[in-house]
Amino acid sequence: MLAGRLVQGAVLVKTVFVLNGPNLNLLGTREPAVYGAHTLADVGQMCAAACARHGLALRFHQSNHEGVLLDWIHEAGRLHAAGDLAGVVLNAGAYTHTSIALADAIKGTGVTLVELHISNVFARESFRHHSYLSAVARAVMCGFGVQGYGLAIDALAQMQAAA
Ligand code: DQA
Repeated sequence: MLAGRLVQGAVLVKTVFVLNGPNLNLLGTREPAVYGAHTLADVGQMCAAACARHGLALRFHQSNHEGVLLDWIHEAGRLHAAGDLAGVVLNAGAYTHTSIALADAIKGTGVTLVELHISNVFARESFRHHSYLSAVARAVMCGFGVQGYGLAIDALAQMQAAA
């Protein structure tokens, strides 16, 4: 089924933003015992398949720069305001543990956001146990490996269907 709204007879498909922060471009070679062997391109394909299953459009991005991530959240916020956003899946990497600016952007735009981590951050170093984002996220998902991205998109699609 298409997840969208009708505008003059045409279905406007809703969009999911999947945003990846610093060092996630290194997936596949970065600490494979922690993050697995899949590359970011593999993750993009998993997300595309999940969005296709739900009739959602996908915007998939990665940046090592906090401000670029902020700009994408603001862009998602404009779609949200127009009723055209299904939600955002954000793996902010280490910015999770440092970025008040990302938390402010999530709160300020009001986007429905799933905070995602490939690893179980609570089974790791204590500095990974605090997140500035969790309090402003709709949901938090960690420890499912890269499969978590598809699960997060499934969850956003179900939230859309329930809304
Ligand atoms: C991560 C966990 C963070 O603590 C870390 O800085 C990352 C990746 C994860 O996906 O498990 O870069 O967000």
